[in-house]
Amino acid sequence: MTQEHILVTGGAGYIGSHTVVELLNNGYEAIVVDDLSNSEVHVMEGIEKITGKRPIFEKLDLKNRQALSAFFQNHANIKAVIHFAAFKSVRESVDNPLKYYRNNVLSLINLLEEMVINRISHLVFSSSCTVYGQPDELPVTEKSPFKSNTSPYGKTKQISESIIRDVVQATPSLQALSLRYFNPIGAHETSFIGELPLGLPNNLVPSITQTAVGVRHCFDVYGDDYDTPDGTCIRDYLHVVDLANAHLRAIHRLVTGENQAGFEVFNLGTGKGYSVREVIRLFEKVSGIALNYRIKKQRPGDAEQIWSDTSFANQVLGWKAKRSLEEMLRSAWRWEQNYRNR
Ligand code: NAD
Ligand code: WQD
Repeated sequence: MTQEHILVTGGAGYIGSHTVVELLNNGYEAIVVDDLSNSEVHVMEGIEKITGKRPIFEKLDLKNRQALSAFFQNHANIKAVIHFAAFKSVRESVDNPLKYYRNNVLSLINLLEEMVINRISHLVFSSSCTVYGQPDELPVTEKSPFKSNTSPYGKTKQISESIIRDVVQATPSLQALSLRYFNPIGAHETSFIGELPLGLPNNLVPSITQTAVGVRHCFDVYGDDYDTPDGTCIRDYLHVVDLANAHLRAIHRLVTGENQAGFEVFNLGTGKGYSVREVIRLFEKVSGIALNYRIKKQRPGDAEQIWSDTSFANQVLGWKAKRSLEEMLRSAWRWEQNYRNR
């Protein structure tokens, strides 16, 4: 068993908490830093219930360079960093772009500076399919071009990838993998951790589960007049536990020295797209609940359809998403019910 210490920034969040579980279950020590701006500290209890281990947790804002510097001075044994900490609401980023540039870009710069100073050589970065905007060709490969009409949030991911690429090039000891997630949904099978519904969700699956459980009356379907088979948008949804597992593969690749390229990018999805109507229909089947929704006009900025080519991750990371859309929706529904009845 390895006993590498992995720093997980944003590890109290949705994807971070599921990744911490995978790390702890696979012989790694996890140190979580999070400012709890979009999460709650009791997530650590959920992680402990699943794994029997409690990760080290420090409340820390990555924008605070001094605090980050002190943190690294107190933790000399960190082998690699998985950097989840960022804001992620597309809509909020349009209304308040500076909040997003400040948090997502400044945090990354602070982290990279500290990693270089403290000679930490391995970084896994949370990127997003949003960097592709609406692609001209499907499925999307890692070589597909970035689109400039993405949101300020999307631009922070494009910029972050450029920053990491440049810093890796200038720092021979540093190696980084950027993981472009498609649409993560679902929750851990135990329902001890999942996506915390802080505020009104913008995303499809939390909107569906909140409607089904009755905390909201209905949700909106943003457009049924797209040029797709049933008129609704198509996305590549993947189970958050499969996604968490990809981080384990990424860490393994870095710490074992398999990665020779310095900076590598991987699409993480299932490679299969589902329409909004298909998701609704399957959720209704899984839950036995008829959903109350309204067809509204298209949401500005939405891509019509996008799904991934994951062959690079399949071949090089040795990773493939395993869980079906039905399992994703079942776990999301179980999590929502447990959360409301806690
Ligand atoms: P999340 O909001 O649940 O988790 C992010 C965590 O980072 C939160 O716990 C938040 O409190 C913390 N955080 C934010 N700013 C911080 C700061 N300055 N210092 C310390 N902690 C800070 O989000 P998530 O869904 O788990 O997403 C994790 C990462 O994956 C993000 O970088 C996000 O942009 C990216 N991503 C998410 C999705 C998605 O659909 N969920 C898709 C693609 C990419
Ligand atoms: C999915 C589909 C909507 C809500 C976002 C970010 C992306 C990435 C993943 C971080 C779309 C439709 C949604 C609703 C609806 N995150 N929808 N009614 O927009 O694909 O991706 O999360 O990086 O960057 O943009 O996800 O879940 O919001 O939408 O009809 O109430 O569901 O139009 O087609 P999206 P989503």
